[in-house]
Amino acid sequence: MKPFEFKLECQCRQTGARVGQFHTPHGVVHTPRFMPVGTLANVKTVTPAQLKDCKAEMILANTYHLHIQPGEDIVAEAGGLHKFMNWQQPILTDSGGFQVFSLSDIRSITDEGVKFRSPRDGQMINLTPEKSIQIQNQLGADVIMAFDECAPYPATYDQIRQASDRTTRWLERCLKAHARPADQALFGIVQGGVFLDLRKKSASELVQFDLPGYAIGGVSVGEPPELIAKIVRAATPLLPENKPRYLMGIGTHREMAQAVAAGIDLFDCVIPTRLGRHGMAIMTVDGKSDRWNLKNNRFKRDYSALDASCPCYTCQNFSRAYLSHLFRSQEVLAFTLLAIHNITELIRFTQRMRDAILGDRFVEEFGHFLTDFSHDSDPDLH
Ligand code: GUN
Ligand code: ZN
Repeated sequence: MKPFEFKLECQCRQTGARVGQFHTPHGVVHTPRFMPVGTLANVKTVTPAQLKDCKAEMILANTYHLHIQPGEDIVAEAGGLHKFMNWQQPILTDSGGFQVFSLSDIRSITDEGVKFRSPRDGQMINLTPEKSIQIQNQLGADVIMAFDECAPYPATYDQIRQASDRTTRWLERCLKAHARPADQALFGIVQGGVFLDLRKKSASELVQFDLPGYAIGGVSVGEPPELIAKIVRAATPLLPENKPRYLMGIGTHREMAQAVAAGIDLFDCVIPTRLGRHGMAIMTVDGKSDRWNLKNNRFKRDYSALDASCPCYTCQNFSRAYLSHLFRSQEVLAFTLLAIHNITELIRFTQRMRDAILGDRFVEEFGHFLTDFSHDSDPDLH
């Protein structure tokens, strides 16, 4: 199998849902699949061995954070990200194009790039498409992302058009700067905000570059959640069938199910680890998704497993009462145990979709996620 080949295994007969195998130099990713986020070369509170047990196949790291600390030189000197963090399976690095806009004190955004102050020491940093790719080449992930401009929400049509046109121009510079195309796949990012014609324009421009994969960015930035599926459905028909498609920053059951129905293969989101640190367990109860606050009094004397049907280490070994106790006592083990469950839950959800598509049962099993928005989770948590 060639590196970065995406083998389409099966397609749903009623929706755009698909099952595939994405081949990378560090192994195969079975799609649809959720990817845990390891911003600073670690998935917060979870070891690589535990991540493997959660059935994680590919994880994420961030150019923006790793550039600020410890710096790409140290990661490269250590032998690259896989060796540095002891994760021998596929890794994807985000370009910094999103984190700069959401996290930093920006000085200027021009065609050249983005100038901002490092939140660590106040130093001026100039992130350009070339710089982002050079950093990502040094970090050494299997998949690297184009440097993009993600416009805020709300923004005017003109602002969004300018940001997505710039993203296309920056993609050309990213490709020129990319020094390791043989062992790092560069994915482009569709922008265009909530304007479906701009989404289509962005997707059709990106496709001209014949990339090894495509992402949809600029979603879950404050727009009504029901727009996400519309945005995805505008873009995916324009993307090639035989390349992986990644919806950035999305990780609730409903949003993933709707996106899978629209032909998305990969997802990432910080919610399983972030919710874990806040005492929230992501649950599937009677086929519906739910979130439980383990600090709730009802768990204090509940000696049953967190989720008896879940194969994760936490559910196999600890009671709701014990987890509740750890959170009340602010013990850090609580974060690890809940992160393990939450990550397992989201990966299992994508694995269940995979199995359902293969068994021609996708609409039967996931149809309730595709129509009804009344059970939407708290948008503040996105
Ligand atoms: N993560 C979530 N959304 C985005 C986006 O639009 N661009 C990038 N680079 N990363 C993201
Ligand atoms: Zn579990």
